[in-house]
Amino acid sequence: MKVLLTGGAGFIGSHTCVELVSKDFDAVIVDNFSNSDPGVIERCEKITGRKIKYHDADVADKAAMRRIFAEEKFDAVIHFAGYKAVGESVAKPLMYYRNNLDTTLTLLEVMKEYGVDIFVFSSSATVYGDKNPVPFTEDMPTSTTNPYGTTKLFIEKILTDAAAADKDLSVVLLRYFNPIGAHESGLIGENPKGIPNNLMPYIAQVASGIRDKLHVFGNDFNTHDGTGVRDYIHVTDLAKGHVKALEYAADKTGCEIFNLGTGTGYSVLDIVNAFEKATGINIPYVIDGRRAGDIDESRADASKAERVLGWKAEKTLLDMCADTWNWQKNIK
Ligand code: WQD
Repeated sequence: MKVLLTGGAGFIGSHTCVELVSKDFDAVIVDNFSNSDPGVIERCEKITGRKIKYHDADVADKAAMRRIFAEEKFDAVIHFAGYKAVGESVAKPLMYYRNNLDTTLTLLEVMKEYGVDIFVFSSSATVYGDKNPVPFTEDMPTSTTNPYGTTKLFIEKILTDAAAADKDLSVVLLRYFNPIGAHESGLIGENPKGIPNNLMPYIAQVASGIRDKLHVFGNDFNTHDGTGVRDYIHVTDLAKGHVKALEYAADKTGCEIFNLGTGTGYSVLDIVNAFEKATGINIPYVIDGRRAGDIDESRADASKAERVLGWKAEKTLLDMCADTWNWQKNIK
């Protein structure tokens, strides 16, 4: 099966590319490298021992996408490309709506023109909002607290409507919990530009001496130690979930939603302790005030993915920490 990976040079896209190629899928990347670089693809080639084709193009550029679809003759699409920084989305909402919606609509239109009807989408647990009790199940009501999350929710709705109207279309919406870790080779991982927004990249930069200390955003949440609890998932497990989702999507039509999480929650301090244990490096931290929009706990009910896709996260928190460090320690 020939699969287009939009944003395939990004953190989750690159790990999924490696898993697909290792399973003999023909993966082709389209990326404009706005938040990644082509060196990532070379490293995916090194891991897999296979040549990986890519096009440097913007998914919202319809003429470019038509040329690529005409040349490649894809069977399926996994759509990772998109802006993903929560704080930036609050400051620049129009940029987020324009980019994340335009890319998706363009992709769907070009897919229709070229008869491609299998679509897997990178959604997010952020669509569970701040009102649902944990663990989150796929049928819970959705809401969002920032424009980034709203783009994910709008795209879910667009895809749901498109699949209802087009009986040939098969859509799978994957709601990711908190992806962390890196490939065990240490060749690919997450490397955010500037000050990291997310917990694990920040801890990794403290460990490597780029930052002095971690700022823990609040210790008055309703959790076992007062710090926020999240469902962290190893990016390799997440990537394997995409392979299962693609195989599932190829076999049916309609629109189906799956949580990709472990079902286990860890607090910020649990993560600090696990990182210290996995690496032997001390992570100094201070307790600061809460960050706007943060909830007490986010955790998946991951049973649907196990039941329907036959997928279950396997890696432990120590694996996630050790692999993060194995990657981070080599970043100059
Ligand atoms: C985790 C915990 C923080 C940084 C976000 C988006 C979500 C998804 C993933 C993706 C929280 C605490 C964090 C720090 C801290 N988006 N924290 N100090 O907020 O669960 O999810 O990223 O593309 O849509 O909302 O993840 O890693 O930012 O935070 O104390 O410097 O760590 O308060 O409890 P979050 P996170």
